[in-house]
Amino acid sequence: MQVWPHDIDALSVSALEAIRPELVINAAGKTDLAWCETHAAEAIRSNLEAPVRLYERIVSLEGIRFIHFSSGCIWDGPYNSKGKPFTPKDAPTPACLYSWTKAAADAMLLDLNPNRIAILRPRQVYSANATSGAHLRNTLQKLLQYPKLIDTPNSMSSIEIIEKTVRHVIHARRDWSGVWNVYDRGVTSPFEVAEMLWKAGLRAQPIRISKTELDSFHKPKRVDTVLYDDRFEVQLQPEEVHEVWARTIKEYQEKISQPMSGKKQLESQVETVPTIL
Ligand SMILES: NC(=O)c1ccc[n+]([C@@H]2O[C@H](COP(=O)([O-])OP(=O)(O)OC[C@H]3O[C@@H](n4cnc5c(N)ncnc54)[C@H](OP(=O)(O)O)[C@@H]3O)[C@@H](O)[C@H]2O)c1
Repeated sequence: MQVWPHDIDALSVSALEAIRPELVINAAGKTDLAWCETHAAEAIRSNLEAPVRLYERIVSLEGIRFIHFSSGCIWDGPYNSKGKPFTPKDAPTPACLYSWTKAAADAMLLDLNPNRIAILRPRQVYSANATSGAHLRNTLQKLLQYPKLIDTPNSMSSIEIIEKTVRHVIHARRDWSGVWNVYDRGVTSPFEVAEMLWKAGLRAQPIRISKTELDSFHKPKRVDTVLYDDRFEVQLQPEEVHEVWARTIKEYQEKISQPMSGKKQLESQVETVPTIL
């Protein structure tokens, strides 16, 4: 496996011909929602234009699969207009510029060629690897820190189910392309997981905050999304979200009990207390 260390735009046809990959995975993008609001041109370039141009170059060559990371937050829920979880067939309902860029990229990528691409839509990604400041987008890191949390239904996606899905899509001989919602089975909430962390002795007791109160000062407004996907359920058989969180918390506790590493990191994280999730 090679990691492309440059901008997406620099992965030219000649660079692709030199590397001769069987598969390209695009997990790059501008992911800070507030930053995207104030840097719209760059957010659109990195999240929409660059992946679409890259896929144009990929489809001009023979036999390369493309896996593109989209997001479950293209839907502003938690449920669709019928009160059901969002499936890949639901039209996007983006609530902020970041979500618009992700939804628009998905539509243009599928329009270009739906047969050579798998679009993965995870939601609130988490892993036990939260002992370094480098993992700002790790939901575990956020839930260890934020004092006030909302208690609205949400899907969450462990790094384990994401990895399992990527492997599945890489190796499947058929029925691999198109959109996959990627999540741990069932529904949880940021508050509920923070309570699990509190009971494990890893944080202070969380305080509930209502969506209305949160949206009154938090811009862009928070999106809640519950995902479902028939094909994903049958082919990936995701584990139940509370079970995966319990295992992840245990793994995290083991990591931070290692000499020199964890505790110091945890203390330094708690000092940088942001506000809410
Ligand atoms: N983390 C989540 O909870 C979550 C949930 C749903 C979907 N996703 C999606 O999953 C993917 C990975 O997310 P992540 O959490 O790993 O995000 P991340 O930590 O922000 O990583 C994205 C990386 O992409 C780089 N990047 C941005 N524009 C680029 C460009 N034009 N060319 C090359 N690299 C570029 C960023 O560099 P700079 O920092 O220098 O810009 C950053 O290193 C993203 O597509 C995101 O939308 C994430």
